Amino acid sequence: MTPFALLYALHVLAATIWVGGMFFAWMVLRPAAVAMLQAPERLKLWADVFRRFFHWVWVTVLVLPISGIGLWHMRFGAMASAPRYVHIMAGLYLIMLALFLRIQLLQLPALKRAIAAEDWPAGGAVLGVIRRLVGINLVLGLAIIALASARPAL
Ligand code: HEM
Repeated sequence: MTPFALLYALHVLAATIWVGGMFFAWMVLRPAAVAMLQAPERLKLWADVFRRFFHWVWVTVLVLPISGIGLWHMRFGAMASAPRYVHIMAGLYLIMLALFLRIQLLQLPALKRAIAAEDWPAGGAVLGVIRRLVGINLVLGLAIIALASARPAL
């Protein structure tokens, strides 16, 4: 396997794990949890789901730019000579990273505090914010994958 192929595989696997995990959480686990669980159990479930999933997201947010910049140099040379869709991919990544850091550093601690205080309405409000931010990141992630796969001549 060439270094380029290895980086490419790592890059696409990282994108799959992050975006696929968000798709499952948003489209499958969220409606199932609403249908099956009362607020206290649902909030505790989500706090544990985020704790476990975010370990993997930390790996992907590191692997994506490292592998992506490696691919960029091997395939296109200078930064400016890459096609526009690669610049858009890197730019949207920064937005996804910022939203992820916001959930990890602000919303998740607030959710844990609400659960510890058994303040279920406050916990529900925090979960609503997380749901919105993850929804934005899911749409961005799907858009990046579609863009990178289509490789349009922008
Ligand atoms: C700093 C961030 C990133 C950089 C520098 C970067 C760079 C690159 C480069 C140079 C390629 C190869 C393009 C080509 O061969 O035409 C690529 C492919 C790809 N990237 Fe990224 N990328 C980044 C973030 C992301 C993110 C956040 C995602 C998705 C969530 C993503 C998904 C993909 C996919 C799916 C491909 C493969 C497309 C295909 O060959 O079908 N990338 N990336």
